[in-house]
Amino acid sequence: MKDAAVVILAAGQGKRMRSAAPKVLHRVAGRPLVAFPLSLARSLGARRVVVVVGHGREAVEAAVKALPGGADVRFALQAEQRGTGHAVMAALPALAGPKGPVLILSGDVPLLGRASVAALHRAYARSGGKLAFIEFEPADPSGYGRVIRDADGAVVAIREDRDCTRAEKRIALVNSGIYIVDAEFLRRGVKKLKADNVQGELYLTDLVALAAKRGRAAVVGAPPDEVCGVNDRVDLARVEAILLAGWTFELLRGGVTIRRPGTVQVDLTVRVGKDVELGAHVELRGATEIADGCRVETGAVIVDSKIAAGAVIKAYSVIEGASVGPGAVVGPFARLRPGASLGENVHVGNFVEVKNTRLGAGSKANHLAYLGDGDIGAGVNVGAGTIFCNYDGFEKHRTVVEDDVFIGSDSQLVAPVRVGKGAYVASGSTITKDVPPGAIAIARGRQENKERAAPVLRRALLARKKREGKG
Ligand code: UD1
Ligand code: CA
Repeated sequence: MKDAAVVILAAGQGKRMRSAAPKVLHRVAGRPLVAFPLSLARSLGARRVVVVVGHGREAVEAAVKALPGGADVRFALQAEQRGTGHAVMAALPALAGPKGPVLILSGDVPLLGRASVAALHRAYARSGGKLAFIEFEPADPSGYGRVIRDADGAVVAIREDRDCTRAEKRIALVNSGIYIVDAEFLRRGVKKLKADNVQGELYLTDLVALAAKRGRAAVVGAPPDEVCGVNDRVDLARVEAILLAGWTFELLRGGVTIRRPGTVQVDLTVRVGKDVELGAHVELRGATEIADGCRVETGAVIVDSKIAAGAVIKAYSVIEGASVGPGAVVGPFARLRPGASLGENVHVGNFVEVKNTRLGAGSKANHLAYLGDGDIGAGVNVGAGTIFCNYDGFEKHRTVVEDDVFIGSDSQLVAPVRVGKGAYVASGSTITKDVPPGAIAIARGRQENKERAAPVLRRALLARKKREGKG
């Protein structure tokens, strides 16, 4: 297919999505719909890829450019969406040359595989190099263009659902919207298209009748799961389920244990190493990488984060934009926000929030803490209830805790502040000044014990209660 140009139709709004966003930007398994035909085109080695844009043009162009293989895509503008034939017309000037096969893909058909395109290419050759398309038999053909045949079974035309007679609506085989057409035939053909249909659009599908008149329309079948289109959010959910089932199998075969495969959501952009164990309802999203031997327990959500070998992410932890070092233990119920960077064997326990803070090797914050905008060295123990007071209402400030420091429970470190190497912060302290290395800092009210005063207080309180009860 290296000789082919590829046109991806992506100008439509997708009204049936009922969405403010263009249809092709809706995501399945972490990737926008338009990413799928694009990566297919790239894997075929196509010399030129043209994406037809219109509705939500800026957003679609920006998304395509950001995708792998999106940098040298040509965009063709279809300012008004007057049908798929009209869309292809807009793409013609961007095609590389006047001749050769043009593979036309729909931006809303994401699961098409290379083998089906190869079969389509062979059918194209059978057609004498004019036109071939993929048909399939969906569970419910409504909404699709039906493939009309003559008494001998030869393809005559494609009739759109809304233009079908009642008898035609019963036809089970439908058009997938995927074609290979000779560039020259395409140029001549689209000029002849007429909007004489219920929708008043220029239908690309009418080229099939044109080619069929000369006996030059070929058709090939494909599995429904591969060529079903996304028109509404029901289709979107179905396509995602198909995709995730396949992807989950790949992960399992690649050496990942998945406890409840149907419940786990792993984006296609995620990399998972060997001997990783994923509990039920785990979500791994975006540019996440999980190295060998990690365990990710039930309900953990990990987004755009790197988890190094042998780390354990315990149940219901939420991790975003963070990196977790080898052998580290996180959670349960921990929250790592962007810029959290945990070194080797760090422990971050339940109800600990870490943001834009580094923890050096072996440091521990095991319970109920907020560590924001900090730099924590190695071997530090952060006690329960410690708060880095990083925000004064106007600006964020940093807290630096050097190696081997002990921060007692329920301490506040009011940034900017530095606790020197090996220092000791007494529990319940509010630290507002730097602590020198090796020092003990105590910053809390002094304790006073009043001997034998408790019974006196109790009697007084009881007496008051009785008085108020009677009165
Ligand atoms: C189309 C086919 C139908 C086929 C179905 C398969 C036509 C007329 N019909 O119908 O036979 O069964 O796909 O999924 O081609 N688009 C544009 N510009 C436009 C209109 C559409 O770029 O003016 C793009 C859309 O963004 C979409 C693709 O073309 O990616 C298909 O358009 P859509 O409106 O979804 O066509 P269907 O009604 O599904
Ligand atoms: Ca469609």
